[in-house]
Amino acid sequence: MDKRAIGVFDSGVGGLTVLREIIEQLPYEDIVYFGDTARIPYGSKSPQTVIKFANQCTKFLLSKNIKTIVIACNTASAIALTNLKDNYDVPIIGVIDPGALGAVTATNNNKIGVIGTSGTIRSDSYQRKIREYNNKAEVVGVPCPLFVQIVEEGWEYSNVAELTAEKYLIELKEHEIDTLVMGCTHYPLLRYILKKVMGDNVKLVNPAYETAKSLKKLLKENNMLNEDYKKPSHEFYVSDAPEKFRRIGGNILKMEIESLEKIDIEKY
Ligand code: DGL
Repeated sequence: MDKRAIGVFDSGVGGLTVLREIIEQLPYEDIVYFGDTARIPYGSKSPQTVIKFANQCTKFLLSKNIKTIVIACNTASAIALTNLKDNYDVPIIGVIDPGALGAVTATNNNKIGVIGTSGTIRSDSYQRKIREYNNKAEVVGVPCPLFVQIVEEGWEYSNVAELTAEKYLIELKEHEIDTLVMGCTHYPLLRYILKKVMGDNVKLVNPAYETAKSLKKLLKENNMLNEDYKKPSHEFYVSDAPEKFRRIGGNILKMEIESLEKIDIEKY
């Protein structure tokens, strides 16, 4: 067994949708979470910048004596996972592989839609991974950058959310997809609107849930689970605006964010 914490990072508060699935499936694990709130969004940045930021996030987490790293950010997973795996010895998992596997398991007609930030969709990572798992799959990727702002404004259930979703998703409806990957940290919070616009016949795949499942498997197979069944510690770090993170993050996690500290990520 390995009692060290799991390190999780994201460009901000959105990665807490991944963390809440991890806490649900691995309730006894200690967590160190870093949200790069000073530099969000990653989704519109160049691959070079995302790779640089992801390396700094990783170095910060490694300074906290963690046993494994989860890249909760879809954009960073899509662009930087290979680079991080080459650079560091610690096991690192991203959300793309588990999300892609979830999609090929869910589809019946092999028509799969992927929505994400511009960076994620442009990288073609989900599309390639899905085709690797199922070479008959027809994958259509659509960037939906405004969804992040809509969620951060707290407008998940508004007309604005619905109209925006209708505009973004029309292409996917025309392709008659039966499975939609919510390929961005914020999108599971739009599940209600996505379901309403796509209809009940389209299955929504949540890479956050699939990633927590893969993480549990990885820890189990490597005898790295924390089997000390006590109340775990959850430490949070951000690079800016801790109070906003505490407020929005508390709502996503449905728990009080207690241990929260602002750090200077440029030092890493
Ligand atoms: N966390 C990002 C993702 O999942 C969304 C926000 C951003 O653009 O940084 O792709």
